Amino acid sequence: LEIKNNVIITILNGVANLIAIAFEKINSIAEQFKMKEALDRYEKLVAIGRIIAGVAHEINNPLSIMQLDIAELDQKLDEGNYDKEITDIIKSLLEEIQRISNIVKQLKDYAKPAALNDDIINLNEIFKTYPLKILTKNIQKKGIPININIPKQKLYVKMPLTRLIQVIMNVLTNAEDAVMEKGNGSIHIDISREQRGEKYFVRISIKDTGIGIHEENKHLLFEPFFTTKPKEGTGLGLSISYSIIKSYDGEIEINSKRGVGTEVIILLPAHKKA
Ligand SMILES: Nc1ncnc2c1ncn2[C@@H]1O[C@H](COP(=O)(O)OP(=O)(O)O)[C@@H](O)[C@H]1O
Ligand SMILES: [Mg+2]
Repeated sequence: LEIKNNVIITILNGVANLIAIAFEKINSIAEQFKMKEALDRYEKLVAIGRIIAGVAHEINNPLSIMQLDIAELDQKLDEGNYDKEITDIIKSLLEEIQRISNIVKQLKDYAKPAALNDDIINLNEIFKTYPLKILTKNIQKKGIPININIPKQKLYVKMPLTRLIQVIMNVLTNAEDAVMEKGNGSIHIDISREQRGEKYFVRISIKDTGIGIHEENKHLLFEPFFTTKPKEGTGLGLSISYSIIKSYDGEIEINSKRGVGTEVIILLPAHKKA
């Protein structure tokens, strides 16, 4: 028993160390941004700051639960009581660890923008790129129809391809979740051009007929860690997507009606290919 307890304590110490290292990394990345980035990237800075503050807060909750679980496990093991309760506790522990791991994964993806070079992306081909092709196939396999409307005219944007894919994956996954939650519905994607004042944009609309968004939640959608998905949600998808799109001078807009569906519109400056 003592050996078991020691193993658990060692694991917990390891987790605590990892989290401390992650915080140091995130902080130093934020510092670098503050020095390097121009003012027009201001919104990205604000978003990173909010994410860091949120991480501190949010990681604390699963950790507290884990701590209680371990204490309880410790007591049960002392009593020599290896029953279903112990299995449940271990299950809960693993769920909370998974939650932390999801959050860290999303942040890891986000915390390396400096290294990425711009690509000239042909929007007409974007859904043929590997991760999006797989994602749309998987959604269709679940019985959710996806319809993609691509214009004849070639449309280009200039930004790192992986960033745009990251945004579309986040938005499309939300559409999938919304349809799953409602129990039926479909997804419609439309790529077009839009002029606003003097500026030309490429417009990506991802529309679902899923569960929709409650009026009182609409102002929270881009907040880091706002989620209505208690099990698998991180609440980071839209806040990360927002700061990516903003940092390439784009816009992201959401129209939704509870019970009817949601449309997410991504606007990015149109790139004139030479
Ligand atoms: N297409 C959508 N339909 C309904 N609700 C949505 C949609 N997209 C986003 N939301 C709401 O916004 C919240 C935040 O989304 P997101 O930042 O991607 O985090 P997560 O998906 O992990 O919850 C979701 O939990 C959900 O309540
Ligand atoms: Mg999401």
